Order: sequence, then C-alpha cells, then structure tokens
Amino acid sequence: MAETKKLLKSLAGEVQEVPPVWLMRQAGRYLPEYRATRAEAGDFLSLCYNSDLAAEVTLQPIRRYGFDAAILFADILLLPQALGADLWFETGEGPRMSTIGGANDLKALKGKDDIHEHMAPVYETVRILSRELPSETTLIGFAGAPWTVATYMIAGRGTKDQAPAHAMRTGDTATFEGLIDLLTDATIEYLSQQVEAGAEVIKIFDSWAGSLKGEAFDKYAVEPAKKIIAELKARHPGLPCIAFPREAGDKYIGFANATGADCVALDNSVDATWAAQNVQVDGCVQGNMAPNLMVTGGQELIDETKRIKEAFSKGPHIFNLGHGITPDADPENVHVMLEALRG
Ligand code: CP3
Repeated sequence: MAETKKLLKSLAGEVQEVPPVWLMRQAGRYLPEYRATRAEAGDFLSLCYNSDLAAEVTLQPIRRYGFDAAILFADILLLPQALGADLWFETGEGPRMSTIGGANDLKALKGKDDIHEHMAPVYETVRILSRELPSETTLIGFAGAPWTVATYMIAGRGTKDQAPAHAMRTGDTATFEGLIDLLTDATIEYLSQQVEAGAEVIKIFDSWAGSLKGEAFDKYAVEPAKKIIAELKARHPGLPCIAFPREAGDKYIGFANATGADCVALDNSVDATWAAQNVQVDGCVQGNMAPNLMVTGGQELIDETKRIKEAFSKGPHIFNLGHGITPDADPENVHVMLEALRG
C-alpha cells in the first residue's frame, strides 16, 4: 500500500523534496505549555502515568509546529520500574534508581510478561493519541535499548562513562547478560502493546551505544536491537522501526542491515555528508542537527538546516536533531528551522 503520511513515506524509502521533520524531546521544558502541564501533574513521573496529560503534552508541539510525527510522552526508565525497580527524579539532577548489583537483584525483578498492569496508563496514552492526532501526523512509540536501560539500572543513575555497567559486563557476565536478556524480552512485550494500542512506528533509543566497542557493540547493541525488531516485525508485519545507536561513529555503517531497522537515527557527532555516503546508502536516516543551534539560532541555524537537508537530499531522510532539544532552546528558533526546511 502506498503510504500517504510524510514520515511513513521516508521510512518506506521514498525520497522527498522536503523531508518530514520532528524533534527528539519535542514535548519538553523549552515549551511554556509543557511546564504548565507538568506543574498540573505534580512531577515528571506523575505526568508520564497520567494518560490525559501525557497525551496533552504530546499534542502541544504538534499544535504549535505541525511536526510530521508525534512521539509518545513517556520515558525509557518506566520499563525498569514496571519490572520492579524503584525510580525517582532528583530535581535538576536526573533519574535515580535502586541498583542491580548482582544475581540476587536480577532474580528479584519481575518477568517479561508482568509489566502490563504497570504500563496500562502508557498504553492508554497511545490510544488517546491515535484518536486525537491529525490524520497526517505519524505516532511513534518507543523504548530504551537494553544496554542503555541496563546502564541506569546497574549504576542507579546516569553516568558519564557507564563504568558500573562495563564493570558488571566484564566482571559478572552471567548477571549482566541475564539482565540484557530480560530487558530485550520485556521490551518486545512493551513495544508490541504500544503497537496494539496504535503506535505506527517504533524507535529504540540506545543513548549509550557509543561506549560499547568491538565485539561488545555487536553483542549488546546490535544483537538485542536485531532480536527486538525481528520479533516485532513478525508480530506486526510491515511495522517500521527506527534505531538510534547514539555516538556509534563508524559502527553506524551497516547498522540498519545488521539489525533490520528501516531507519538509523544519527547523532550530531557524525558529519552529514559522510553519513549520506556511508549510512544512507542502506536506507532512510534521521537527523542530525546539533541541538545547541536551537539555543543560539540566527543565520547559522538557517544555514545548518539547509546544509543537512541538502546533504541527505539524494536518499530517504527524516529531519531531526542529533539529540534532544534542550530546556534553554528558544521556541521561536523551531519556527526559524521549519521555515528554512520547508521554505
Ligand atoms: O518528546 C519526547 O522526546 C518524548 C518523551 C521522551 C522523554 N524521554 C521525556 C523526558 C523520550 C523519548 C525520552 C527518552 C529518554 N529518557 C532517553 C533516551 C534519549 C536520550 O535523551 O538520550 C533517556 C536516556 C532517558 C532517561 C532520562 N529521562 C534522563 C536521563 C532524564 C533527565 C535528563 C533531563 O533531560 O532532565 C529524563 C527526564 C525526561 N524525560 C524529561 C523529559 C521531557 C525531562 C523531565 C522534566 O520534565 O523535568
């Protein structure tokens, strides 16, 4: 069937003169309406589990900017919480969790099929969105990749170099691999339910993929993504999947073929011209403007938008940032970017 939505066209391999566009973290603190709704919900996690308000913040950037895709408002750390981990957010610091220090902590977690009651509000958010989004807007569901989620579970917080997770990977490989396997299987069930509820595309965020090197990258970034994508496509034929192995560098080459992803999202450390030659040859890519341009704006924002559009113009492309838009971004700069992109 020929796709009619712009985002789905690019994911099906179509080259479009104006690429579809959305932004990572497009529902976020740079928007005053997001801050107001978050205050109404109480805190970030309460917002994630309040289906009406989570749907509302997902819709806010669509109303304001008319992006081609909406991404479900939730967080990659809800899955460990559904598996039984404690999770809270320290204001101004980020996530904190109970830690997985060894085999006993792993055993205490729930099974892959025991997450759905906890996740029911997230599935309800997806159902609301699939009713309320404009007909031209694609709904993206998502989860964290097993490695990235494991780094938070093992350290109990975000880390610069993921050292605790690497230490477990080499020092207690059995527990580490047990955790990766549990997360892989639970992610399949979680994403499958998002699709049942109305998600049209899924994206897997492997924000810390870049700290896996050599064989470890293949084992813990490529293999879990491949398994998740293969199983989701078996259950939901034709489901487009976006993979984001952030800071993979040279490992972006061949990543789509190795995992079965329809699109590889690129961070802004790779050059667009290089990525067009080496990654886009295999299919659709997403990215990859530097998020700081949404803070600084000006002529450089316009020039960079046009440069990236041009660099990827010979193949299927979804315009996005290389990472999330930051709280200090100027909402007006999003209009400037859209004007430069769409003309
Ligand atoms: O608009 C969207 O992109 C959809 C919702 C979304 C959020 N987080 C909301 C959020 C998505 C897709 C994510 C993914 C996510 N969450 C990732 C992968 C992408 C990436 O950023 O690398 C990671 C690593 C997380 C974990 C996480 N959540 C951290 C480390 C933090 C704290 C850092 C920060 O930006 O504050 C969060 C909080 C978070 N997740 C916020 C939002 C809008 C900010 C919370 C707030 O409102 O205070």
